Amino acid sequence: MSDALAGRRVLVTAGPTFEDLDPVRFLGNRSSGKMGFAIAAAAHRAGAEVVLVAGPVHLPTPDGVQRIDVRSAAQMHAAVFGALPADVYIGAAAVADFTPARIASSKIKKRPGEDGLTLQLVRTRDILAEVAAATSRPALVVGFAAETDDVDDNARGKLAAKRVDLIAANRVGVSGSGFESDDNTLLVHDAAGHVQLGPASKAEIADRLVALVAARLAQEPR
Ligand code: CTP
Repeated sequence: MSDALAGRRVLVTAGPTFEDLDPVRFLGNRSSGKMGFAIAAAAHRAGAEVVLVAGPVHLPTPDGVQRIDVRSAAQMHAAVFGALPADVYIGAAAVADFTPARIASSKIKKRPGEDGLTLQLVRTRDILAEVAAATSRPALVVGFAAETDDVDDNARGKLAAKRVDLIAANRVGVSGSGFESDDNTLLVHDAAGHVQLGPASKAEIADRLVALVAARLAQEPR
């Protein structure tokens, strides 16, 4: 327990989003939500008022955290903007980049003679970039970058493109890191360079990320 974030409001997103195709099918991803939930718990331990916007995951709500459950990227966008203003935004969710152009109202059926199916997808709104550009922009905006290759270059690119203050990059698709693992290693980039957190448990990494966020926030004018 510390009071590094006492009096601060922290908004965290976590988990995947599910984009419905029809009443029985959806497009999803392998995010477990564990990292975002650990960050929400750590921010609460540091004394913050915490709102956690969670995609579809089966994880217990951390003590003292206000949780808003959503399913799709569009719902997550609405919940995030409904929960602003905040002092800190941490976008740990793996938000779908694309969603079906339309949701079929009945189950999509195979037709005789069809040997394939083409889905038309459209871009979702980039919640992180919109939060960073909002008039109610939190003093500190933190993004995540889940990468399978060129982790550092991609993370630095996202820092600039989305105009965020910190990007926490992790490697996905390898064991001992990323989506379904209990452990993680994060490379946290800012405009000046990066620090490595871990390898360690997601709870430990979350405490260290929150300490970093609190230190940065203390430098910002209130
Ligand atoms: N993100 C978001 N809204 C989206 C897509 C992503 O807020 N529609 C946020 C995620 O929460 C994360 C960051 O953007 O904090 C990076 O997401 P990621 O999917 O790794 O990267 P993209 O920017 O989508 O780029 P790409 O998929 O091309 O790697």
